[in-house]
Amino acid sequence: MKLRDSGMPEEAYWETLFDVPLILDRLGVDHRLRDVVELGCGYGTFTLPVARRITGVLTTCDIDPAMIARTQQRALDAGLTNIRAMVRDVFADGFGVPADSQDAALLFNILHCEEPSRLLAEVARVLRPGGMVLVIHWRYDPSTPRGPSLDIRPRPEQCRQWMLEAGLTLLVAHVDLPPYHYGMVGQKLTEKKP
Ligand SMILES: C[S@@+](CC[C@H](N)C(=O)[O-])C[C@H]1O[C@@H](n2cnc3c(N)ncnc32)[C@H](O)[C@@H]1O
Repeated sequence: MKLRDSGMPEEAYWETLFDVPLILDRLGVDHRLRDVVELGCGYGTFTLPVARRITGVLTTCDIDPAMIARTQQRALDAGLTNIRAMVRDVFADGFGVPADSQDAALLFNILHCEEPSRLLAEVARVLRPGGMVLVIHWRYDPSTPRGPSLDIRPRPEQCRQWMLEAGLTLLVAHVDLPPYHYGMVGQKLTEKKP
């Protein structure tokens, strides 16, 4: 099922709404990450820059075949060979990667979905112990130029609560991602807390 309010505006406009290098720098996306999964590549706005920074494979899933086709074409044009892009309903079928296999999971502009706790449970399944979930979302502010309506847009504290409910721990509770976003980093612990 396509998650609610996940339609995209035109690509060129969408890509004016983020400072992608700043976001990836502040979330710590670099060569220390090996394999990474992403839910919803969209136009590949983050997929390609992340793939350039990591040392392993970026597995990305989108329910919309046009988004996968666009991301694959951009990867081909850029000569990137470490992107595995699949048409897949992650809410119904999961990420399609083994348990405990991923260094990071990207949930970018996604957590206004219907069942965030179930999604985060799937993220917790695929992360290796010590792996991280990187979340960004639109600020809870009616003046942002895009973003889901405020009645379904999560507040940062809601995202943090869902992470904890999924058994993840908070590594970085808040990252400012101007002009319109905030982020946070969760982690799958190697050992359960006493
Ligand atoms: C708001 S866009 C965000 C795209 C990208 N993460 C970004 O920030 O540029 C949400 C994306 O999730 C995809 N999507 C919606 N429901 C999905 C599902 N059930 N499984 C996989 N992808 C889904 C949509 O097709 C869309 O491309």
